[in-house]
Amino acid sequence: MLTIKNAVAVITGGASGIGLALARYWTEQGGKVVLADLAQEALGKAAADIRALGGEVATAVVNVTREADCERLADTAIQRFGAINLVAPFAGIIADGLMLATDRDTGKVKGKMPLEQFQKVVDINLTGVFLTVRECAARMVDHGCRGLICLVSSTGSLGTAGQINYSATKAAMSVMPKVITAEFFRRGLADRIRCVAVAPGYVGTAMVKGMNQKALDAILGNVPIGRLVEPEEVAALVGHLYSNEALAGEVFFIHGGLRLGSKG
Ligand SMILES: NC(=O)c1ccc[n+]([C@@H]2O[C@H](COP(=O)([O-])OP(=O)(O)OC[C@H]3O[C@@H](n4cnc5c(N)ncnc54)[C@H](O)[C@@H]3O)[C@@H](O)[C@H]2O)c1
Repeated sequence: MLTIKNAVAVITGGASGIGLALARYWTEQGGKVVLADLAQEALGKAAADIRALGGEVATAVVNVTREADCERLADTAIQRFGAINLVAPFAGIIADGLMLATDRDTGKVKGKMPLEQFQKVVDINLTGVFLTVRECAARMVDHGCRGLICLVSSTGSLGTAGQINYSATKAAMSVMPKVITAEFFRRGLADRIRCVAVAPGYVGTAMVKGMNQKALDAILGNVPIGRLVEPEEVAALVGHLYSNEALAGEVFFIHGGLRLGSKG
């Protein structure tokens, strides 16, 4: 088992939501955090929050879609703390819409999802994760670090109407742990650097609380625990995945029993 005490976590999307909850959790367990986010002001507040908990924190204003930003982020962690033990590339967005919108009267196509709306989600949720993981993992290998790459997929990976962009990126997150684990196994690294994904259902962060009440009520009607998953509950799962070195190459759902299509 690994212990979090003194371990270094690099968290993108660390200024809010699940990323910030993980940073708090990591700090409470005695770990050090490198927080990265595009939102500079929110990042400053998040860092102050971590310091108030008595934690050690470094920050990097980063756009995860930019290669140079991700290189700088990984370098920051090594320069400041000398190691990377957890990589949590949690920066992500949604930009929902139907691929084709049809007119209720004529049945004909009246709108298409613009390329930019598709591409933006792919750039951040998929390419941004690739760049973050590649740069951090390279430093982990070169500096002999032990730890975990923990991606964030979603129940959306199973296919949600109105999320062709988001669902596609989250499905990609489900396969990456297998690819990375297999590649590291071939190179004799898999006992030292593991890779998994968590796949939350509906978590009570700004991303979900911003939905209209009717949509939220409809969602909760399918959640057996009768409430949203708390970001702290996802953070605790990541903490366990980090500590338990038998866990590798797999996707771990956390959704309160969400019934996906099954009404049985
Ligand atoms: N909230 C949920 O219900 C839920 C469910 C499943 C998966 N997820 C995933 O968890 C992750 C975090 O979600 P959240 O609910 O905490 O969202 P959030 O909106 O609270 O946090 C996302 C953070 O990412 C940052 N960000 C966005 N684009 C960026 C970029 N290009 N570079 C750097 N930072 C950027 C934002 O500024 C924000 O601080 C996302 O990948 C999301 O898809 C969330």
